[in-house]
Amino acid sequence: MVEFQAPTTQTVKTARLELRIFKESFLDDFHTIWINPTTTIWTLSGLSTSLEDSRTRMARLLPNPETPDTLNYGVFIRPSALPSSDSEAAAAPLHGRMVGMLGVPGVSSPGTAEIGYVYDESVWGRGYATEALAAYMSVYWDHAKSINAVVAMVDPENTPSIKVLEKCGFVAVEYLVKNIVLPALGTRDTLILRIERPRATRTPGLA
Ligand SMILES: CC(C)(COP(=O)(O)OP(=O)(O)OC[C@H]1O[C@@H](n2cnc3c(N)ncnc32)[C@H](O)[C@@H]1OP(=O)(O)O)[C@@H](O)C(=O)NCCC(=O)NCCS
Repeated sequence: MVEFQAPTTQTVKTARLELRIFKESFLDDFHTIWINPTTTIWTLSGLSTSLEDSRTRMARLLPNPETPDTLNYGVFIRPSALPSSDSEAAAAPLHGRMVGMLGVPGVSSPGTAEIGYVYDESVWGRGYATEALAAYMSVYWDHAKSINAVVAMVDPENTPSIKVLEKCGFVAVEYLVKNIVLPALGTRDTLILRIERPRATRTPGLA
């Protein structure tokens, strides 16, 4: 029997961001992100249809003793890091708001986890996704000791996401043709990128 590890790292701080373990109180911000057609265009689950739909989706991201290898964070901008180029009025909506999310919501096959992330359109292009993913990976290896590889399933035309992954050490390993139907885009190909657990953090005896 696998023993439940409550996420040891409730908060992860980077230079500009704070990653916080998912909580029910994030629902309104979660919903805001998932009702934006641009933000959700590349996603498999597509637009949220209601607050209740968002609540159901978000429930899967909360810490759960039955899925100990999952680990999901909401991403917040640290107050000291709100961009100075933004006017006060433009920056105000970012104060205390979850602007993105990332994590492993499930394990695709034994020893291999799948990562996902989504950021509000208003904060794209600032390097936040890269900064958060790099920090996340170092925490994740420690959290999920039986996981030895993490994969990301990306649309081949989602260049920003591919760049984020490559900058964090993921490499493209497989290209699947017309394997998936995205609600917003229809039948699409998928590029799989993968990263292996760093050798130094491997548990002796595990494959
Ligand atoms: C993918 C996503 C997370 C990127 O977030 P982000 O905070 O903008 O990412 P970063 O700023 O860290 O990096 C984005 C990179 O893509 C580049 N980029 C952005 N738009 C681009 C475009 N249209 N064409 C080419 N490169 C682009 C940026 O310049 C940057 O690369 P660089 O650091 O080499 O300059 C964000 O766009 C998003 O949430 N998209 C919708 C959901 C999604 O696609 N999730 C991933 C599913 S696999």
